[in-house]
Parts: sequence; structure tokens; C-alpha cells
Amino acid sequence: MRQFSARILSNEQLCQSMYQVRLQGTSGTETGKPGQFLTVRITQSVVPLLRRPFALSHNEPEDRFSFIYQVRGAGTDLLSTFGRGTELDIIGPLGIPFPLPAPGEFSLLVAGGIGLGPILFLADTLRHRGCEFSFVFGCRSAAFFPEAVFENHDTVVCTDDGSSGFSGNVVEYLESVSGELSLKTRIYCCGPEPMLKGCHQFAGRHGFLCHVSVEQVMACGVGACMGCAVRLADTVSYARACREGPVFDSRELAWD
Ligand SMILES: Cc1cc2nc3c(=O)[nH]c(=O)nc-3n(C[C@H](O)[C@H](O)[C@H](O)COP(=O)(O)OP(=O)(O)OC[C@H]3O[C@@H](n4cnc5c(N)ncnc54)[C@H](O)[C@@H]3O)c2cc1C
Ligand code: FES
Repeated sequence: MRQFSARILSNEQLCQSMYQVRLQGTSGTETGKPGQFLTVRITQSVVPLLRRPFALSHNEPEDRFSFIYQVRGAGTDLLSTFGRGTELDIIGPLGIPFPLPAPGEFSLLVAGGIGLGPILFLADTLRHRGCEFSFVFGCRSAAFFPEAVFENHDTVVCTDDGSSGFSGNVVEYLESVSGELSLKTRIYCCGPEPMLKGCHQFAGRHGFLCHVSVEQVMACGVGACMGCAVRLADTVSYARACREGPVFDSRELAWD
């Protein structure tokens, strides 16, 4: 983990309210892995005060990296106005990455909405390593599908309103193809909580391993404040999403 300055190379809108920012770091060599995240100081002024966490969607050794973000509130709204050359204060890479599949395993990559970034990074990594995988992306409607980032991947798109691809959510899609999946399937998932829970339950029904990346609200981002605590499966213990996560084996977490 390091604190460094990075310059924006591009900041482009991908689809309705979703952007991708590409950055060039100005020092250091530490490279993040799929599932790890950064915290970004969006402005030097008091509002918004806290750093905002974003998962890496790409990282190269020469300190070029990117993340995909959705405009949700004041911080991301401001971020979407920044152009090439703007400098951001960044801490990272932070957190535990996705474990890679064992030899011979098939990976099922599942992203919902803004959970896309870390899953895209994982897809690029698996493709580079020659691993077999399928990529499933779920969103509300075709307007929320960022087509450009999928140019290197065959992807199944699931839309809630049926305006593109499979009509229904990603878990309904997974059930529809479950008969075709090998017993050696490992699921990787990032997206809204109901989707993570659905993937966890799907994995449990079919005996698959499932790794989820959770998006807790974070304050410090480095393990000091307990602001990002997630309840564990024993229902009495907690883990910090920023230190012990954000990636967890889904069986470790409490889901009710
Ligand atoms: C490990 C991790 C990885 C993330 N990766 C991404 C990503 O790749 N792309 C992306 O768009 N978003 C990601 N998020 C969520 C992102 O941090 C929030 O959308 C962002 O902080 C919102 O800031 P804001 O000022 O625009 O919104 P605010 O005005 O602060 O709040 C608007 C809404 O955003 C959510 N939110 C606010 N602060 C946080 C926070 N610190 N953590 C989580 N949710 C928050 C809440 O639901 C809130 O109601 C990630 C969060 C975590 C914890
Ligand atoms: S955000 Fe402070 S402990 Fe995780």
C-alpha cells in the first residue's frame, strides 16, 4: 500500500451514469490485483471530506491503472467533471484480491452494475493466463450496458426489463444454464447485495465455491475505524471489509 499522486489520462462516460477513469501514477511500482481497491481524495476542500473507495478495473506494471465508477453523490459527481491532466491523491492497492482458480477449474464471472470493475480486471487476468471462464453481466436495461469495455470478452448480458440479452436477473440466468456447468466451477461475483446473496445461494445449491466482493461504506479504508464491518456466518463475529475483505468466500458471511 502507498499514497501517491496520479494524473488523469481520460475520464469517459461508458453508458448511463457510468464512467471509466484511466490514470497514470507518478511514483512507485506496486501493482494491484483483481478485487483490490484504491481510496481517492476527490478534492482538497472539506466537502466531500472522506476518501472514496473504488475497485481497480485494470492495472499495468508501469503504473497505469483505471477504475469504473457510477455517479451516486457529491464525490462521484465531481469526479465525473475532471478532465485529462487533473491530479488525484490515491492510497492503494488495498484489501485482499480474488484468489485465482485452481488448475482445471472453470470460472463463472458475475458482475452487476457498478460491480463491473473488479470482475473485468479478473476476466482480463484469466484470459491472459489461458484460464477458461464465462462472463455474465446484469443491469436494469440496455441503457446501463457499457458495451465498449466488453470488446475483448464474450459476455452474456442480463437485463431486468428484457431490453437486451437474457430477460431476467443474473441468478435466473445461472439457474437456466446450471445443467451445463462442470462440478469444478468457481463463481466470482461483485454487485448489489441481493445479487451477491443470490449467487451465494446458487453456489450452495450446486456445490460450487463462490467468492464475493462486498461494497461496505468505508471511512478510513485501512482497518482503523471498524466502519466497514461485515457480519460473519457465526452471526456474532465481524470482519473489516477493507482489511479482511473486500473479497470473501461467500460461506464466511452472514446473509440474513
Ligand atoms: C471496496 C469498495 C469498492 C468500490 N468500488 C467501486 C467501483 O469500482 N465503482 C463505483 O462506482 N463504486 C465503488 N464503490 C462505491 C463507491 O465508493 C461509492 O459509490 C462512492 O464512495 C460514492 O461517493 P459519493 O460522494 O458520490 O456519494 P455519497 O454522496 O457519499 O453517497 C451516495 C451513496 O453512495 C454510497 N456510498 C457512499 N460512500 C460510500 C463508501 N465510502 N463506500 C461504499 N458506498 C458508499 C451510499 O449508498 C450512499 O447512499 C466501492 C466501494 C467499496 C467499499
Ligand atoms: S473503513 Fe475503517 S476499518 Fe474499514
